[in-house]
Amino acid sequence: MNAATDLSRVLADHAASSIPSSLFGLPDQPAHERVLLASDEQTGLKAILAVHSTARGPAFGGCRFWTYDNELAALNDALRLSQGMSLKNALADLPFGGGKAVILKPASGQFDRAALFAAFGRAVQSLDGAYITAEDVGTTTADMLGMQAVTSYVSGIPRAGAFGGDPSPKTAWGVFVAIRAGVEKVLGRNSLEGVRVALQGLGAVGWHLAAFLHQAGAKLVVADIDAAKVARAVEQFGAVAVGVHEILAAEVDVIAPNALGATLNAQSIPTLRAALVCGAANNQLATAADGDALQARGITYLPDYLVNAGGIISVAREYRGEGEEQAVMAEVSKIADRVVELLERVKREDSTPGRVADAWARSKLVKPV
Ligand code: NAI
Repeated sequence: MNAATDLSRVLADHAASSIPSSLFGLPDQPAHERVLLASDEQTGLKAILAVHSTARGPAFGGCRFWTYDNELAALNDALRLSQGMSLKNALADLPFGGGKAVILKPASGQFDRAALFAAFGRAVQSLDGAYITAEDVGTTTADMLGMQAVTSYVSGIPRAGAFGGDPSPKTAWGVFVAIRAGVEKVLGRNSLEGVRVALQGLGAVGWHLAAFLHQAGAKLVVADIDAAKVARAVEQFGAVAVGVHEILAAEVDVIAPNALGATLNAQSIPTLRAALVCGAANNQLATAADGDALQARGITYLPDYLVNAGGIISVAREYRGEGEEQAVMAEVSKIADRVVELLERVKREDSTPGRVADAWARSKLVKPV
């Protein structure tokens, strides 16, 4: 590992920017217990492992493999995502804290994937269980499987004939039950038959979600940067395809963002025509104020970390050896009860879903009894 070199580069970039010169005081950055910058020259690994909170137990959260504009953008992503995991795990009543890792995709495009993930696995192991990793955007169950050779702190492992592996169907199920509960509370409709849903992103989660919604009779509008996925959704689900720049403004009842974060922002919010926003993507709001802006427009936003907990519930159970399909699905389905409770609290407290969920989750950032 060659962490010192990496840190000095981040600091140099940082000093050259207009951001204040303290890594511990970056604006909008949540305080973290530990952040590890792990690099390895041989494999080209550059990773940021962020442990936001271990108050409830070891920090548990996926690992993202992505191309970032620069290293600070990667750091920013890791810190925002790991705080989100603390809130998500607390609201889901899991005995885990929050953490997340990002691996910067080597710019050369030339790398040995197995060796790179082995180096990342060694960095995970070096934290001695303070952080447990799993799949996220850009990583696969095969990556998790490979890392088992170097670390025991990894979950989401496919096991022949047994529960485990890819968490995305469970994430999609959680989002689906949340949409169903939200539609009932917000639109007063107790069925999804004919409800119009726009899906931004048809990846691992988005595709499963589209299938659940289609089965329930919803009318789908879809967009993805991958035209092949869109074509498949048109064919299999009778979905209407729109461009990636039009999807958020589609004339629908529900918007389900399932791509990357910060899609709900000052530019997009005024264009929305849906009554409900509920999707899997992490950090959908660019800023907390965007939650207020949605509320001001009469749009109900169901916080991402409340509705997308199905995957972490799945890998956490698997990690604890409690992976039994039916029990996992029952636990994931409780997300619908939390949506109902959240919307009731919002009404009682005359607040916004984002603010209520945040306070609710933070009140649970303590060791479970
Ligand atoms: P994925 O990488 O399989 O899918 C993302 C999809 O979004 C891809 O099909 C991609 O082509 C598409 N996309 C990217 N940019 C787009 C754009 N501008 N417009 C439209 N489509 C675009 O990722 P996955 O696993 O489905 O995750 C989706 C989101 O859900 C991510 O934000 C992830 O962090 C979050 N999430 C995923 C969980 C899981 O179990 N996989 C668990 C909790 C959250």
